[in-house]
Amino acid sequence: QKVELSIDEIDKGDYEHFMLKEIHDQPSSIEDTFRGRISMDHSKIFLGGILDVLPSLINARRIIILACGTSWHAGLVSEYLFEEYARVPVEVEYASEFRYRKPILYPDDVVIAISQSGETADTLAAIRMVREQSEATILGICNVAGSSISRETDAGVYTHAGIEIGVASTKAFTAQITVLTMMAFLLGHRKKKISDSDYVKLVNALTEIPGKMREILNHEGFIKDVANKYTNVTNSLYLGRGVLYPVALEGALKLKEISYIHAEGYPAAEMKHGPIALIDENMPVFVLAVKDDSYEKITSNIQEVKARNGKVVAIVTEGEKTLRNMADDVIEIPACHKSLSPLLAVVPLQIISYQIAVMRGCNVDQPRNLAKSVTVE
Ligand code: AGP
Repeated sequence: QKVELSIDEIDKGDYEHFMLKEIHDQPSSIEDTFRGRISMDHSKIFLGGILDVLPSLINARRIIILACGTSWHAGLVSEYLFEEYARVPVEVEYASEFRYRKPILYPDDVVIAISQSGETADTLAAIRMVREQSEATILGICNVAGSSISRETDAGVYTHAGIEIGVASTKAFTAQITVLTMMAFLLGHRKKKISDSDYVKLVNALTEIPGKMREILNHEGFIKDVANKYTNVTNSLYLGRGVLYPVALEGALKLKEISYIHAEGYPAAEMKHGPIALIDENMPVFVLAVKDDSYEKITSNIQEVKARNGKVVAIVTEGEKTLRNMADDVIEIPACHKSLSPLLAVVPLQIISYQIAVMRGCNVDQPRNLAKSVTVE
């Protein structure tokens, strides 16, 4: 099927790389993801693509998420949201592992496949296995209309992020989280776990994200200056708690795949179970330390790293004071609802990985050994 591309979709415009354009596209691509799906008074979310299967979602015994790479990280974010707002158990599985296991599947399971390309071989094989072995309802969250995964699922929601050229996924990731967030809120409200007034508050908070993201992008120069200090490191750690733990994983993946620096993401509390032995003055630690329920704890994690001469780059909520004197670098992001912080916290990490890769002369849009869509095993 011939896909007509509009010129602005394949033109980098004033940007040096597609990845930088796509990072900057995110406020408008998130608005595109909302378009036609949120009522003017913010009291309703419409996801037409899953209307027919809403009863199955409402009665789901469990949600199983199948994905790879960045899409798997988006699924991990949604685990926190579906559990908190829709009160449904969630399992997030690497599609490549799930497809070779002998998983237990129930007819009232709902499987959600997340894939930007909709062509990832492992994810496609995993949903085909589910199709063969169970009556479970299978949904797809894809960015490419008419892709294989979107065609082989019972229903789904397109992310509407626009074509993503850069191999390292950015706007597709935030669009996936936006769709999953809308699904969690919608499901929670339908299941009467969220009151009407709280639902409006949550939807309001979600619609404010693009504006807050633009504020972060306005500080791109400052973020790049911070990144320049860490261009020659050979290892790095990314730490986060709660819904920001998957963002730590995503930040580490971004750095790995475009700058070839070894990077690992961890739940911050996991440091004392081993990784803290890695800390020395050559190991930068990027910490997602926004003002949320775990702020006090993450602050003590930062103290533990500093006590061992580690370098800390803290992503904090604007106006935060304590960490300013504790961390080596502080990058501020606007305050937002605690459940929506992944959408904002990931942006500085995307810019940092981009800038380090550029400074190292790497091929940012087509990193070595990588393909935009892994259509083979
Ligand atoms: C992400 O930056 C990578 N390009 C890669 O991990 C990607 O997310 C993964 O291959 C899954 O691709 P998909 O979303 O098209 O299924």
